[in-house]
Amino acid sequence: MLDSETYLKVNGGKSLQGNIEISGSKNSILALIPTMCLGEGEGVLTNAPEISDVEAMKGILEEIGIQLICENKTVRITGDIVYNELSKQYVSKIRASNLFLGVLLARFGKAIVPLSGGDKIGNRPIDIHLHVFNKFGIKTNVEDGFVKCEATQFPYKGQTIFLRFPSVGATENAMLVASAAESESIIYNAAMEPEIVDMAILLNSMGANITGAGTSVIHIQPLKQKLMRANHEVIPDRLEAGTFLLMLAITNGRGMIKHVIPEHIMSVISILMDSGVDIKLEEHNIIVDATNCKFDPIQVDALPFPGFPTDLQPFASVYAVKCNGKSTIKDTIHTERFHHLYEMNKMGMVSTNISPMVMIMGKQKLTGTSVIGSDIRMAVSLVMAALIAEGESNIYGLSHIYRGYDNFVNKLIQLGADISIAYKDTIEPIKELKTVL
Ligand code: UD1
Repeated sequence: MLDSETYLKVNGGKSLQGNIEISGSKNSILALIPTMCLGEGEGVLTNAPEISDVEAMKGILEEIGIQLICENKTVRITGDIVYNELSKQYVSKIRASNLFLGVLLARFGKAIVPLSGGDKIGNRPIDIHLHVFNKFGIKTNVEDGFVKCEATQFPYKGQTIFLRFPSVGATENAMLVASAAESESIIYNAAMEPEIVDMAILLNSMGANITGAGTSVIHIQPLKQKLMRANHEVIPDRLEAGTFLLMLAITNGRGMIKHVIPEHIMSVISILMDSGVDIKLEEHNIIVDATNCKFDPIQVDALPFPGFPTDLQPFASVYAVKCNGKSTIKDTIHTERFHHLYEMNKMGMVSTNISPMVMIMGKQKLTGTSVIGSDIRMAVSLVMAALIAEGESNIYGLSHIYRGYDNFVNKLIQLGADISIAYKDTIEPIKELKTVL
């Protein structure tokens, strides 16, 4: 079925109520799968989200000789890497495919990988990744859409690296490459996202010796033995948790977000609490009550972790519509990530863009209409806008949602949203939205 033929139909105005179980983290599993490729034997990832980006990863793994089987939220990985070159077929679908540069370099000292794909959320250069490789004496060349890398000496020596920006992907690639070095490596100004910690925990269970992950300085010691694949539970998806937290809040809803690590989204929790949402935290649950919320205006600045996640920044614009007064939203990571505002404008939202900041006056009325999401978070932010809009909205771009959200529509139905999948002019009965892997 073509993506342009399926869409989501949402009738706005319903208050979401109930409990929701958060799935495993998309961004984590997309780093954990390449990490597993460095080991031997069988590796098992539990709490795996059923999303189409994992399907793309499976395609990449098959190209280099590794098997990946997905079943009941478990991913099993076996086999050895036999090729050091990848085609565009799957790599172009996801951004995290650039981690195969690190994987293949650590394994062979040589890699040819097409430029990766992923969300179209502005310019996404790879200079920091290349800087990391160059530090290890690896020559890099970007030619005809391919990144070609070759180590001048293999195995290479450990290095001290300073990242000009704490890039998540470059920190992950640095850990992968450094894990094969003959001596200690240190990464300064490393990204501190929970997904980095998750990856370091897996690498350590496979036999690596990494300390400092989750801080801005990471030390990687040389290996004492070959890396062996291990069993690992993927952390809960903090971005999915933040999405449902904001959706419950904006609809004056009430409920519990279960199986989450609240510290991973304290930036979102704090902003919502300051705005008047009643939030209580348990070890793995967030209890939300926005039935009597004041909706004070918000000031959001998307920053590297533990700052407000750039991926949730589009949702903040929708929240701002409900507020009493002027909210400001700034994104210093992806300064051009404001395409959602054009589509929300069709629903009646007015915003003032003083790049890289947007100003949104509160108490605006949104009206349902047809809109198109062109990346994961944008598509979901349009669903969020539709939830508070008057009347019916049609949201196109469902395939983007499948890339990163496990069972998204059913979870919303469970919370009482009036949402269905429509095909051309007929509304289909809701089927399980699980991706067949
Ligand atoms: C990861 C996440 C993505 C999230 C982002 C920032 C995955 C699969 N994706 O993406 O959801 O939005 O972190 O939290 O985990 N940059 C450069 N040069 C580089 C690398 C990055 O200039 O070589 C810039 C980027 O253009 C961007 C910023 O650094 O402005 C952050 O990018 P980065 O942290 O690398 O994000 P990703 O790893 O691509």
